[in-house]
Amino acid sequence: MKFCYADPPYIGCAHMYPEKTEVNHEELIDHLVTEYPDGWALSCHTPSLQYLLSCCPDDVRIMAWVKPFAAFKPNVNPAYAWEPVIVRGGRKRTREQDTVRDWVSANITMQRGMIGAKPDAFCYWLFSVLGMEQGDEFVDLFPGSGAVTDCWERWQRRLF
Ligand SMILES: C[S@@+](CC[C@H](N)C(=O)[O-])C[C@H]1O[C@@H](n2cnc3c(N)ncnc32)[C@H](O)[C@@H]1O
Repeated sequence: MKFCYADPPYIGCAHMYPEKTEVNHEELIDHLVTEYPDGWALSCHTPSLQYLLSCCPDDVRIMAWVKPFAAFKPNVNPAYAWEPVIVRGGRKRTREQDTVRDWVSANITMQRGMIGAKPDAFCYWLFSVLGMEQGDEFVDLFPGSGAVTDCWERWQRRLF
């Protein structure tokens, strides 16, 4: 099976990356739906969730990355301490398999040289959510630091 993870700059945050160009999320979601019928996931932030869902088919699920340690900003209270992950498809799980939660709790990464680099625990959870198995094709559409792809290599070899 073929799966994709899209971790673009969140809407309104393109200035944080060298490309300085907003990603067209409507086109991105169309691409995910068309090219990855087996399953895909899209990271985003809560301010964009309403808009993004309006671009998604009805059968997506909303999962949560909860961040016990998150960046607190002055005058932002309550803090944004979780991020939605929109998920579609995935390998069907059998009754024998463990039940995966629709959330993961993991601290943000620090000093990785890339804003938004995803922590290992997040990546491993995401692979479970999608029911990914060794040998599946995995496309990391916005690789950034390469953390997610690195985890996928380790996860396939059970080296984590
Ligand atoms: C949130 S980061 C990805 C983080 C990655 N998942 C990780 O764990 O390191 C988004 C990435 O998309 C790149 N990017 C920013 N704007 C882009 C654009 N318009 N088109 C393609 N890539 C872009 C950024 O440079 C950055 O590498």
